[in-house]
Amino acid sequence: MDVHSIAKLPLFEMQKFAQTLGNTPLKPIQLRVDGRPHTLHLKLEGANPTGSAKDRTGKSLIETLEAQGRLSQSSILVESTSGNLGAALSFLCKVKGYCFLAVVDPKTTHENIEKMRVLGAEIEMVTKQDQTGGYLLSRLERVQALCQSSQRYIWTNQYENLANPIIHQHDTGPEIYRQMNSQVDALFIAVSTGGTLAGISRFFRKKSPQTRIIGVDARGSVVFGAPPGPRLLAGIGSSRRSSFLTRSDYDEYTLVGDEEAFAFCRAVFAMTGICVGGSSGAVIAACVRYLRTHQDIRNVVCLCADRGTNYTSSIFDDQWMTSHGFSLHAGLPDGVQIDERASSLW
Ligand SMILES: Cc1ncc(COP(=O)(O)O)c(C=O)c1O
Repeated sequence: MDVHSIAKLPLFEMQKFAQTLGNTPLKPIQLRVDGRPHTLHLKLEGANPTGSAKDRTGKSLIETLEAQGRLSQSSILVESTSGNLGAALSFLCKVKGYCFLAVVDPKTTHENIEKMRVLGAEIEMVTKQDQTGGYLLSRLERVQALCQSSQRYIWTNQYENLANPIIHQHDTGPEIYRQMNSQVDALFIAVSTGGTLAGISRFFRKKSPQTRIIGVDARGSVVFGAPPGPRLLAGIGSSRRSSFLTRSDYDEYTLVGDEEAFAFCRAVFAMTGICVGGSSGAVIAACVRYLRTHQDIRNVVCLCADRGTNYTSSIFDDQWMTSHGFSLHAGLPDGVQIDERASSLW
C-alpha cells in the first residue's frame, strides 16, 4: 500500500495494517555465473508495511521503550535516520499516538522524506558532513542536543538499543530458516547499525552453525574497519563502527561500490520485475562474487532490506544516474546473466 493510502486509513485499519509486519516473501531468481546455473533466494523485506526491514526494528525499539515505562503521550520520539527507520517510526508513532521527530541528512531519499511527512513526522535535516565524509555523526550530535534540551525527547537509539538485533534474532532469522526448509549454505546481509546482521547471525550460529554469514558494506563505509570515503548508496554503510557486531557474527565481509550495486538493482528489475533498493543490489553483487569462488554453494539467501520504489528518483532514474556519472549500460560483470524466465513479478 502506498503511503498516501496508509495515511488516509481510519486508526483501526492502520492498526490492522501494522500487524501485517513480517512473514515477507522469499523469491528465487536464477542466474548463470561463469556458465554455471545458480538460484538466489531474495528475502524481500520491502513487503513490510512501510517498505523495509526497519519496520521490524522500529516496532521492537518502541515496544521495548514502552515495556521500560519510558514513554507517555507527551513523549516525542527522536531518531537519527537515513530514511527507512524514519519511515517505520513515523508510521508506528502515528498508529500509537506518539509524536516523532526524524533527524535526516541530504542523502535521505526524497521518497522516504515524503513518507515521513505524509505520516505526520517532524523532520530536521543536518547538512554538515562529519569528518568521515558522511552525516551520521552530525545527526547524532543533533539528537543529543535535542535530548538535553527537554525530557520530552526520547531517543529510540537504533545504534545501541539491543531491541534492534533481538527482533532479527527472534523473527527475521527463524523466518528465513523456515522458508528455506532449514537448508541455508550462505546468507548475505548489508550492514549499517549492524543490527540486522548481528541478530540473524546469532540465530543461525545456534541453529545452523554451518551456514556461512557474509556481511556486505558500501565501499567508503567504516563498519568493518575499511577507510572512509564518499558513497552514494543509502541505507547501507555508516560513519562509525557497529555497537552490535562482533567478529564471530560473520565469516567474511565484502565491500561493494555504488556503480556495481546500482547495475545489479537495474538488471534484476529489468530481467525479473523484482524491484529492490541499493543495499540489496550490493548484497546480490556480493553474492555473485562469492559464487564465483565457492562453487559448492547451493542454498543461498540475499537479504533485500528495502524496495526499489524508495529509489525511483535516483537508482531507477536515468537522468539521476547519468548526472552522477554512472553509465546506463554498465551492465553486470562479464560472465553473469540473470534468467528472466524464472522469476515472477513482485
Ligand atoms: C536499505 C537498507 N539496507 C541495509 C540496512 C542495514 O541495516 P542495519 O542498520 O540493521 O545494519 C539499512 C538500515 O537502515 C537499510 O535502510
